[in-house]
This record gives sequence, structure tokens and C-alpha cells, in this order.
Amino acid sequence: MSSIRIRAISSFHAEFSVPGDKSVSHRAAILGGLSNGICEISNFLPSEDCLNTLKAMSALGAHFEILEQMEGYGPTKLRIHGRSMKLTASEAPVDCGNSGTGMRLLAGMLAGQPFTTELFGDASLSSRPMGRITIPLAEMGANIETLGDKPGCAPLRIHGGKLSPITYEMPVASAQVKSAVLLAGMFAEGTTTVIQPATTRDHTERMLASFRISCRINGNTISMLGGQMPESCRLTVPGDISSAAFWLVAAAAMNGSRLLIKDVGLNPTRTAILKVLSRMGAHITEILHSSDGEPMGHVEIQGVSLKGTTLLEEEIPNLIDEIPVIAVAAALAEGDTHIRNARELRVKETDRITTTVENLRKMGADVEEFEDGMIIHGGQPLKGAEIDSHGDHRIAMAFAVAGLFAEGETVIHGTDCINTSYPGFAYHLEAIRQERSNPADFVLPTTRL
Ligand code: S3P
Repeated sequence: MSSIRIRAISSFHAEFSVPGDKSVSHRAAILGGLSNGICEISNFLPSEDCLNTLKAMSALGAHFEILEQMEGYGPTKLRIHGRSMKLTASEAPVDCGNSGTGMRLLAGMLAGQPFTTELFGDASLSSRPMGRITIPLAEMGANIETLGDKPGCAPLRIHGGKLSPITYEMPVASAQVKSAVLLAGMFAEGTTTVIQPATTRDHTERMLASFRISCRINGNTISMLGGQMPESCRLTVPGDISSAAFWLVAAAAMNGSRLLIKDVGLNPTRTAILKVLSRMGAHITEILHSSDGEPMGHVEIQGVSLKGTTLLEEEIPNLIDEIPVIAVAAALAEGDTHIRNARELRVKETDRITTTVENLRKMGADVEEFEDGMIIHGGQPLKGAEIDSHGDHRIAMAFAVAGLFAEGETVIHGTDCINTSYPGFAYHLEAIRQERSNPADFVLPTTRL
């Protein structure tokens, strides 16, 4: 099991970009594979989660060619050969690794394919709720068996076939559920409608539009006519704002620091992290430079002494993945930060309420835990500690950031999981820890094949 050791720094000045967006990369692999020709995807995220989805599509007949790659990880630029909606059965069960997004989106797509597929994942994924997708997909006519030891959990055996459209009012605000139903809806005869209880990330809707599939969007209601053929296209994946969030928090909370994150996704369904850090006192400038499909731009942030804030209920789905690192920012801020209405955190890669609270307390923070979140009484000095990631990438990275502020040494145990979403994190951390400021020191190694 690998680990990372960190000591505090006083400030940093840096300018770099983070790898491609995880959510967008999953969707590009899936829609590219369903499209009617060759798709070229640039800045694809070569993380384990996205590679599993890419390999799944390949096992289902949608092959890919690597044009550029990140040394030791995987493709960053690739060509996907789409199958015009008709995939072929995989010879072996399909491994989704640690990825809830991969499994749930693939399940939606496979519900409409006329063969049986088994999807499995690691121990964490096998304990996450799958009823949230199997229920609507069964309503559309799919027959899905949940084979896990835990009821309603993976592995999934999906007997796909002819689907009927539904109007589905989602009980949880989940982009994965919305996307699974819409992907199944692509194969249904008639109009599938999904009604969200709150706005969730809209990458699926935007990418469907890039593939010339029309959806009708009215507030939180999305309708799509099945049977439309996705037209192959070229896509550039923006940098992942959820990966940028680690450095944004580090810079925001470190007086005198300045950070410019370049070419990052600025989709409004993902940028609540910037609003929260602004409310906490950070100085942030957003410079939007392109908005073809997914808005993208640069974010500049200057560090100050932060103050506590309250996360709004409607912000929660927008920043759900950033909550562990927001909790670290809150521990460094003066005053209280209220994070409530965030029960969903309990069914992520780990129970992120427990793993965040436990590790914050180890570092000396004053935190109250609730069923649906936590209140952090900020301002206690953090001290170095032995941190267990529990195999959760965002916990490992959030506490690596905390280590940049702690007295003494912080050791994060179990850092391999970081590769599920941020290959190159340790490289960027090291450049920041050494207080490097030359942008060239942050460029991740790539090789051209
Ligand atoms: C994702 C949606 C979110 C998020 C996950 C990625 C997606 O999950 O936590 O990391 O790509 O659709 P939910 O939709 O279940 O909230």
C-alpha cells in the first residue's frame, strides 16, 4: 500500500492545468462507442475509473486507438470507433473497478442491448446502492439481477432488450441516475422524461447535444425521444474542477498564495465550489474562454484568512465531490461551517461523512457529526497525523491538502486510489510542496505514440 508524506509550506505561486474531467470522460467513452462513426476525444482522463469504462466499451465491440498518452497511465487523446448503437456481447464479465458512474451509466446503456452482460466492481462499489438505477430500468422493461452479498448491490446481471419509455421522478438528486435513464431512453420507442428533485450536473445533456441528439430541457425536467442516432464528433474534455478543487482550497486558505488553474471546466452545475470559497473570503476571478458544449476557462485565486460559511441545500449536488476538501478549508477558517443535507455522502466511495470527520479529528479539528453532514468549528491549529484514506481517492487528496497546513508531518496511507480520478496528483503536490512557480514544472509527462 503506497503512502504520501507531507509537511507544511508557507505559500505558493503556481500556474497549471489539471487532467480531464472524470464525468465528461466517462460520457465521451460511452457516447463515442454508441455513435455512428469515428470520434476523436482530446484531454481524455487516463484515470482507472475512465479506463475501465473505455475498456468496457471495447469489450462490447467499440474499439479505440490511442493517439497520445500519459506515461504509465493511459490515453489522453484517442479515437473511438462507434458501433451505431449496436454493441456486441462481452465475452467476459465487465470490470467497473471503483466507479459508480461507470457502472450506473453502462447499466443504463446495456438495458437497451439485446444480450446479457455482467458488471462487477471492487468491494467499495459492491456495497453501493444500485436500486436507484435498477428500479427505473426495470420499469422500462429491463431485467436486472443484483447478485451482491448486500441486497440491491453489484454485481449486476443485465438482460437487455426492448425498452419502453417512462416518465421518472427521481427520488434522489443524482446525475448518475438521470444519465442511466436517459442512456436507456436512447433505445426506447417514444419519449423518456426524467424529473430531478434538484439540479444535478448536466454533462449527459450537453454531450447528447454534441452528438446531435436533441433533448428538451425545462428546468429540472429533461425529455428525449428514443431512436435518435448519435453522430460521431470531436470533443475536448475540460480540466476537472473537482481535481482543481484541492489546489483551489490550498491556495485560498494560504495567505499570500496565488494560483491560476488553466483550461478547467466551468459548467455552472459544477462551479459551486468557487461560490463557496468566495463566501469564505477567497479572491477568485473566472475567465471563460470557450463554451462549445462544456464551458471552459481559467480560474485565478488568491489566498486570505478564510471564514466559515453555510452550504446551501441547493448547492449540495453541485459540490458533492468537493465536500471533503471543503471540510478541510472549513477547519482552517475562522468560525463555523455548516454542511448539512448531504446524506448522499454516506453512499460514495466511502461513507464520506465518517471518513472526513474521523480524519479531521485526528488532525485536531473540532467537528460535530450529523446523520446528514457535519458542523466544523474552524480555527483550531491542525497537527500532522497518520491518515487512512480507506481507499477513497477524494479523502486521500483532501487530507494531503490538510497536511500542507499542519504542524509536523502528515502521512496519508493508501494513496493508490488517487489514480481512480487524478493521475499525476502526487507530481503536482510535490511541485507545490517545493514551492515551484515555473509552469513547466507542473506539466505531467506524456509520450506521443
Ligand atoms: C457523477 C455524479 C455524482 C458524483 C460522481 C460523478 C457523474 O454522483 O458524485 O463523482 O459523473 O454523473 P451522483 O450523481 O450519484 O450524485
